[in-house]
Amino acid sequence: MAVERKYELYTHEAKASAYELFAKMRQDDPVHCQPGIDGKTMIWFVTSYDEVEQVLRDDKHFVREAKNALPPDQVYQPDPLEAMMSNHMLNKDWDDHRRLRTLVSQAFTPRRVQMLRPRIQEIANELLDGVVGQGQMDLIADYSFHLPTIVIAEMLGIPVADRGKFKVWSQAALMPTLDDDSLAEFMAHMQEFMTYLRNLFDERRETPGDDLLSALLQAEADGDSLSEMELFSMLVLLIIAGHETTVSLIANAMVALWQHPDQLELLKKEPARMKTAVEEFLRYDNSVERAFNRWVAEDMTLGDQFLPKGSLVIPIVAAANHDPETFADPERLDVTRETNNHLSFGKGAHYCLGAPLARLETEIALNTLLERLPNIQMSIPFSELRWRLSPGFRTLETLPVQW
Ligand code: HEM
Repeated sequence: MAVERKYELYTHEAKASAYELFAKMRQDDPVHCQPGIDGKTMIWFVTSYDEVEQVLRDDKHFVREAKNALPPDQVYQPDPLEAMMSNHMLNKDWDDHRRLRTLVSQAFTPRRVQMLRPRIQEIANELLDGVVGQGQMDLIADYSFHLPTIVIAEMLGIPVADRGKFKVWSQAALMPTLDDDSLAEFMAHMQEFMTYLRNLFDERRETPGDDLLSALLQAEADGDSLSEMELFSMLVLLIIAGHETTVSLIANAMVALWQHPDQLELLKKEPARMKTAVEEFLRYDNSVERAFNRWVAEDMTLGDQFLPKGSLVIPIVAAANHDPETFADPERLDVTRETNNHLSFGKGAHYCLGAPLARLETEIALNTLLERLPNIQMSIPFSELRWRLSPGFRTLETLPVQW
């Protein structure tokens, strides 16, 4: 039987006024238990900064793997297709997590990522060359989508021309599947995705390149550090992580700037401030609303609530980022904000591996846009913006602009 939710988190209205809703939750019920999106599973939603940080940081008591919190007979066994997609570092604890993360971490260090700067700048310019004469575009479909997806495709060594397919698969992977039809559609997309990857692996095994996929295939062939299933899952994670997140951060940042024209003018005049500004865009309206859920591995107290072993917890990072106990004047966009310990990339063991890349891409994407199209404006009123109903993300459906 469905249980009433005190806070409605899954509607267009909730998405449109998310920060008001989070403020209310944080004030009245900072650690609150209610049913999740299925209307049945009871989940603890956490909205205060200190408690969100505690959950993310303490990976001994708040774990990703159900087997580390529940008796074996209660652990859900995924079907083979699901297992191929989900055996990645973000779904693993402790030693398995470290082993998988180590395999790719070198490619994402700040120093390695900075070497991509000229190429990312070139891509941003080429994308704008293609649209500048039109006087209008959809900022997401025509610009912000392409930049991170070309970059990750080039890093991995997967055909850039196939990124339209990745878009469909990434969006399918992030949408909830609550009925049989949407589940069947999701499974069909994922089957296609796995077949695509299998063919790609075969090609790349025959002709390896100087790319991350070839390095991972080598690790798999060597035997003890990466199984075939983990290889599939790693690719799924890296492709999906590079798709919805930075794409939407760029769009959310532009909306925030149009809502704060003084901040927009400041950045146009002083583009060197963009690095600091990106941290504020991450805090103010991050594309990732929630971290992934955690299982409680031992009886715990969080805030003033008792959480029994086996409970599910969702840390809402977007709510933590607006906690007035941590951020002065949190509802104000201040692109010069110096102390900015936002939780937008998570914290602790699972801290976003792609953070240096996402920061650099966003900085270049926004500076290039403001430099080349200084009069760019939204073509619709703010009231017509529509957020996708994907529970963990803040992503706009479209963002029509003109100049
Ligand atoms: C604005 C852009 C991005 C944001 C806001 C973001 C946010 C996050 C967050 C919050 C986590 C932690 C989730 C948790 O603890 O439950 C995470 C993990 C991760 N992110 Fe990102 N991400 C972004 C871009 C990227 C990019 C571009 C990549 C790489 C291509 C990437 C790869 C990953 C990976 C591999 C993990 C898992 C790390 C682990 O489990 O150790 N992310 N990201």
